[in-house]
Amino acid sequence: MSQGETQIESDELLTGHLYDGIQEYDNPLPGWWTMLFLLTIIYSVLYLIYFHSGKVDRSMIDSYDLAVADNLRVQFAEIGQLNPDRETILTYIDDPKWSMVGKAVYQMHCTSCHGANGEGKIGPNLTDNLWKNVKVVEDIAKVVSEGAAGNAMPSWKTRLHPNEIVLVASYVASLRGTLPAGTGKIIPGEVPIPHWGEPPATEQAPADAVGSQESK
Ligand code: HEC
Repeated sequence: MSQGETQIESDELLTGHLYDGIQEYDNPLPGWWTMLFLLTIIYSVLYLIYFHSGKVDRSMIDSYDLAVADNLRVQFAEIGQLNPDRETILTYIDDPKWSMVGKAVYQMHCTSCHGANGEGKIGPNLTDNLWKNVKVVEDIAKVVSEGAAGNAMPSWKTRLHPNEIVLVASYVASLRGTLPAGTGKIIPGEVPIPHWGEPPATEQAPADAVGSQESK
């Protein structure tokens, strides 16, 4: 309810809003405020064009990725380019320094599907003797690189440095036999395979004798 003494004479100055006896002046927003507001809109458009126009290395994420890649190159200069072969993968299982890199890669990219300790979640358990796409230890690097089951297991070759793939393969190989709590996620098609240290089955027989069975 409005009080007579506070009543504004000219109705044109008022918005006509009345709440609990409080009336509202129809004051325009200050010019500086409106300008600032418009400037933020203009700035956002320029920002969008500048940082998201497809040019590499302008956004913070891009420069972070580039910095990480640079740093990796510096670090990996020490070991050169690793080959994803059996000997290399087995070598880096026990390496005190580089096995930590494999572990870090695993923790960053793989735990969501394979569990913090390889016990298996969406993806299969990686700590037992049962494997599906892996017959010999170098197949781990192959699966990580190429993916499996129509990308249910994603391909990492464009997202990880080749050395990271080798090192994470070593880390996965090292999980075998650890059988952490929660182990049990088994996928159809898994079969027991010989231990990593043992020579792969294909080396025990002439290549042509096993070729037909192995070609699938
Ligand atoms: C989006 C979920 C997902 C992520 C992330 C993922 N995986 Fe997988 N992974 C799977 C699935 C699902 C399979 C089973 C594929 C199949 O059925 O053939 C699998 C299979 C595998 C296999 C083969 C297991 C076998 O028995 O043949 C290995 C090795 C593996 N993943 C390692 C990794 C590594 C290392 C990473 C991280 C770089 C990773 N995975 C990230 C889902 C994932």
